[in-house]
Amino acid sequence: MKKVFVNGYGSIGSRITAFLKDDPEISVIGVGKYSPDDKVTEAISRGLNVYVPEKKLDNFKDYKISGTIESALDDCDLVIDAAPGGHGYQNKKNLYEPKGIMAIYQGGETTMGEESVSDILFNSRANYDLVQGKKHVMQGSCNVTGMGRILGPLRDKFGERLIRFDVTLVRRWADIEQTEKKLQDTIEMSENPHHGEDVKTYFGKDAPLFVRAIKVPTRQMHLHIMDVRFKDVAPAPVEIHDIFKDEFGVATLWTAKGTKDVRDYADNMGFNFTDTNMIHIHANMTASIGDTVQMMYSDDQTGIVIPENHMLMQAMLFGKSYKDAFTHTESIFHMKEKKQKLEEHFAKK
Ligand SMILES: NC(=O)c1ccc[n+]([C@@H]2O[C@H](COP(=O)([O-])OP(=O)(O)OC[C@H]3O[C@@H](n4cnc5c(N)ncnc54)[C@H](OP(=O)(O)O)[C@@H]3O)[C@@H](O)[C@H]2O)c1
Repeated sequence: MKKVFVNGYGSIGSRITAFLKDDPEISVIGVGKYSPDDKVTEAISRGLNVYVPEKKLDNFKDYKISGTIESALDDCDLVIDAAPGGHGYQNKKNLYEPKGIMAIYQGGETTMGEESVSDILFNSRANYDLVQGKKHVMQGSCNVTGMGRILGPLRDKFGERLIRFDVTLVRRWADIEQTEKKLQDTIEMSENPHHGEDVKTYFGKDAPLFVRAIKVPTRQMHLHIMDVRFKDVAPAPVEIHDIFKDEFGVATLWTAKGTKDVRDYADNMGFNFTDTNMIHIHANMTASIGDTVQMMYSDDQTGIVIPENHMLMQAMLFGKSYKDAFTHTESIFHMKEKKQKLEEHFAKK
C-alpha cells in the first residue's frame, strides 16, 4: 500500500481524496489546508487528517488538526499538489524537491519557462508510457485534457487529411462549490491563453492548432467550439461521431439544450460531486460544410482531470502498464457506465 498526501483541499483536492479513499492500493495520509475555515471541519468529518503549514499552526488552534504539512510529507510516497496555480511550483522548490518526494502538479502550473514544474504534461491517451520513472509530472488542465480527447482520435482516424484546428474555448467563471466567487456580468477576453501551447506539448509543437478563449458568467462547465479543416471534402457528422463510440471519457449527446442539463442529470443520477468526469460532444451541433467540420463539446471542468490524476499516480507510483492502470481507474470511476447512461438519457429522439 502506497502513502499519498493531497496538498490543497479545494475543487480538485477534495475530489481527488474522495476517489482515493475507494482505492485499496492507496492510503491517504491526509490533506493540506491553508485557511482556517469550514472546509477543515468538512474534511475531518469525511475521515481525513488535516495538516497545515508550520508557520500557520496558531491560526488553526480551534480545529482538530493532525499536524504540519512539513511533517506529513516526511511519511509519504507521493504528493498530489492541488494548490492554486503557481503555488505548485513554490511547493516543488520549498518542499517536495528538498524532501525528495515524487509529485503530481495540476493544470494551473506550467511546463515552460523558469517556473516549469515538469518536463512533461500528462495526457493518459497520448503519453502514458513516458511518465513511468518520472519524479515530477504536471497533469494538463481541464480544457487541455478535453481538447486532447477530441484531437487524438481525429488524428488517428484522418491523419494527413487534417490541415487545421481552430478552437474557441468558452470558459466557466467559477466552480459549483466556489460560492464565495461571484459571477461578473460580463464576457471576459483572455489574452494569450496557455491551452493551445499546452496541448502541443503532447500533440506536436507544429500542430496546426489555433486557440482563442473567453470567460462567461456560468459555473456549468466549459464549452469548446471547434472547426476542423480537411484537405478535401470534410467527412459527414456521422463519421465523426462514430470515432468516439468506444472512446474513453467522451459521451455523444443529442438532446442536451445546455451544459446545465448535463450537470443536472449527473446530479439526479448521484454521480460523485455531480461530475461526469468526461467531455460531451453535442452531436446536434455537428455540421459538415465544404472542407470543414464544425463541432461543440462541453468539458466537465472539475471532474475531467480526476481520473487522469489517478492514471498518472499509478504510472509514477507502481510503474503499471497502461492497460492495468486503465482497468483499475475504471473500477473506481465507472466511466463506461456513466457514458452509457448519459448517452441513453440524451439519445436522438
Ligand atoms: N477547478 C477546476 O475546474 C480545475 C480543473 C482542472 C485543473 N485545475 C487546477 O487545479 C489546481 C487547483 O485548483 P482548484 O480549482 O482546486 O483551486 P481551489 O478550489 O481554489 O483550491 C485550492 C486549494 O489549495 C489550497 N492552498 C492554498 N495555498 C496553497 C499552497 N501554497 N500549497 C498547497 N495548497 C494551497 C487552498 O487552501 P485554503 O482554502 O485552505 O486556503 C485550497 O484548498 C489549479 O492548478 C487549477 O488550475 C482546476
